[in-house]
Amino acid sequence: MKIALFGPPGAGKGTQAAFITERLSIPQISTGDLLRSEVKKASILGQEAKGYMDRGELVPDELVLSMMGSRLASEDCASGYILDGYPRSLSQAKALDELISLDLVIVIDVEGSSLIDRITGRRMCRCGATYHLRFAPPNVNGLCDRCGQELYQRDDDKEETIRSRLKVYREQTMPIIDHYSKKGILRTIDGNRGIDRIKDSILEAVMKAGGV
Ligand code: AP5
Ligand code: MG
Repeated sequence: MKIALFGPPGAGKGTQAAFITERLSIPQISTGDLLRSEVKKASILGQEAKGYMDRGELVPDELVLSMMGSRLASEDCASGYILDGYPRSLSQAKALDELISLDLVIVIDVEGSSLIDRITGRRMCRCGATYHLRFAPPNVNGLCDRCGQELYQRDDDKEETIRSRLKVYREQTMPIIDHYSKKGILRTIDGNRGIDRIKDSILEAVMKAGGV
């Protein structure tokens, strides 16, 4: 099954994509994670992308589309995947339509006021696990439950950059809601609830679309 999950910064895309990955045994493909890994390697793509990411702007399509083209052609994508944060503009959605047919598009809808809290309290682990100081804390303060490594904050999780990411979401990403709604594959999930309740609603939507 081919699923795309989107929503504003801090909506819980990464958190929820991890549950679907586990349930359906399909890979989670996050453009944000792929780009951060290129930045860390200081590859040419990473060096070009970094400035945009630090400012909270979208990385230009020519960079993202070729990165995603190769990722989606990988062997582990043969029986489906969950896209986390892709597409996030009308031009990306149209480019994706040329490549594949999505079965389900889920938007996690969250009130703007909770998003800053969710992002500023987020702590990450290099193994991929995500925590929140208040809403999903690790068992030992500062250390990952899964692997014991130290947790860190993302470079773009500063309040000023978050505001720019929210603006980009409203202006460039929200238009894709209409695009997928017209195709009849969009499901909107109320993200103003606890992590588990959102998970249940998402799994229900996946089940209705024939995925579980
Ligand atoms: P990306 O990494 O995708 O960031 P984002 O879209 O801003 O979203 P986040 O990862 O911040 O939030 P999330 O929805 O995954 O929330 P999470 O589950 O972590 O993109 C980063 C940058 O890369 C972009 O700004 C852009 O520059 C570039 N980029 C990426 N994709 C691109 C593309 N396609 N094209 C061009 N450029 C691109 O949850 C957040 C926190 O809240 C966590 O601490 C979590 O524990 C907590 N939490 C989750 N759910 C709940 C809940 N229900 N209640 C309380 N707390 C919760
Ligand atoms: Mg994320």
